[in-house]
Amino acid sequence: MKILLRTNRFYLTLLNKTYSTALKSVTTVQVNGKEYRADDYTNITPKITSYINRNLHLKKDNPLSLVRQRIVNYFYASFTHGGNPVFSVYDNLSPIVSTRQNFDDLLIPEDHPSRAKSDCYYINASVLLRAHMTAHQSELLRSGLDNFLMIGDVYRRDEIDSTHFPVFHQVDAVRLQRKEHLFVNHPDLNIFEPNYDPTNPHTFTNSISDPSKQSCHTLEATKLMEGQLKNHLIGMVKVLFGENIKYRWVDAYFPFTHPSWELEIYYENNWMEVLGCGIMRNEILANAGPTNSIAYAFGLGLERLAMALYKIPDIRLMWSTDDGFLSQFQDRDVNASIEYKPVSIYPHCTNDLSFWLPPTLTIDTFMSNDFYDLVRDIGGDVIEQVKLKDKFIHPKSKKHSLCYSIVYRHLERTLTQAEVNKVHEDIAAATVKAFNVAIR
Ligand code: DAH
Repeated sequence: MKILLRTNRFYLTLLNKTYSTALKSVTTVQVNGKEYRADDYTNITPKITSYINRNLHLKKDNPLSLVRQRIVNYFYASFTHGGNPVFSVYDNLSPIVSTRQNFDDLLIPEDHPSRAKSDCYYINASVLLRAHMTAHQSELLRSGLDNFLMIGDVYRRDEIDSTHFPVFHQVDAVRLQRKEHLFVNHPDLNIFEPNYDPTNPHTFTNSISDPSKQSCHTLEATKLMEGQLKNHLIGMVKVLFGENIKYRWVDAYFPFTHPSWELEIYYENNWMEVLGCGIMRNEILANAGPTNSIAYAFGLGLERLAMALYKIPDIRLMWSTDDGFLSQFQDRDVNASIEYKPVSIYPHCTNDLSFWLPPTLTIDTFMSNDFYDLVRDIGGDVIEQVKLKDKFIHPKSKKHSLCYSIVYRHLERTLTQAEVNKVHEDIAAATVKAFNVAIR
């Protein structure tokens, strides 16, 4: 992809090159097929623009997508109404947003450092690449939603090292509760203090000077929401990292929530921050529509979770299109525990294995995941990939047959064909024994 900079007299096409000097004469910038007015805020580069539409979070074999699916599954399964999920998911919203969406709607002050040109990729003074998924909170509330997840790519100017990249992915969420739901067993309790009139929110000055709650909310409503929020998030972290994960809550500040917290988990001898959350500022709800509710919100980064879960040492690997990387996450159960193995530079060997299934099995009932596990059990670390190559039903005998390609690669040395053949024979023998198949 390229950025087209148009001046009054000519078009300037720039590829992989910053254009601060060219900017002086530039009047428009083209991003993602659309033309925008350029101004002295414009700092988006062609390289950054090239990441738009990669949608790693939606690519089936990308680790970010596996973590996304696990989080979505958790929220789908934990909150249902009449068998239907309560949360709706927005994972395809355009990353090009207004400064109103990214900042003003979220009560981020004019002079807040997160607005700085040095921190964001601006298309112009009023349009930028979203710096967080929270940017969509108000528009989705305005459209009438009450429980939703927003998932996508976010852009921040930052150093590039093994844990930082200017583009990363976030999951943000909002859960709104009305009095009838929050206090099902206590109809006498209220969300709002008596001096706040939800039908006339703009006559009230909401204060956050009390660390325990916003002045419009009752302490009961705030504490109940805090309890639910923390339980839901701990549940999610346990689904990802296991029941025994060590965690702690840390008080935090965000302009759009009060009170606010960060959740840290103990990982590889360090406390690692995994998310920010809190009770949504009532002004945001009042401006966007729902006036009779209290809500919690949270936001987390997918890269950090994926790197910890799968032991991926460098954030840049997420962008890899190399088969040696992606194949490690291919065709895997989303809940499988996967440990990333650095891609070897040594050549690979591919051997095929074809077999007839016994009459008790068909090409549709054969459990390929069981077979993959067996291959890994026998072959160990030299197995790089197992792919289904062919399915076949014999026209006369009606016997069913499958063919798999097994890719062998050692991480530290070149394998000989003789060694590979030996492992391959062992796998064939174990397959015959385990599934009662006949090698073709
Ligand atoms: N937007 C924040 C960030 O990018 C994370 C966050 C914190 C999101 C609290 C929320 C929230 O929705 O309630 O750092």
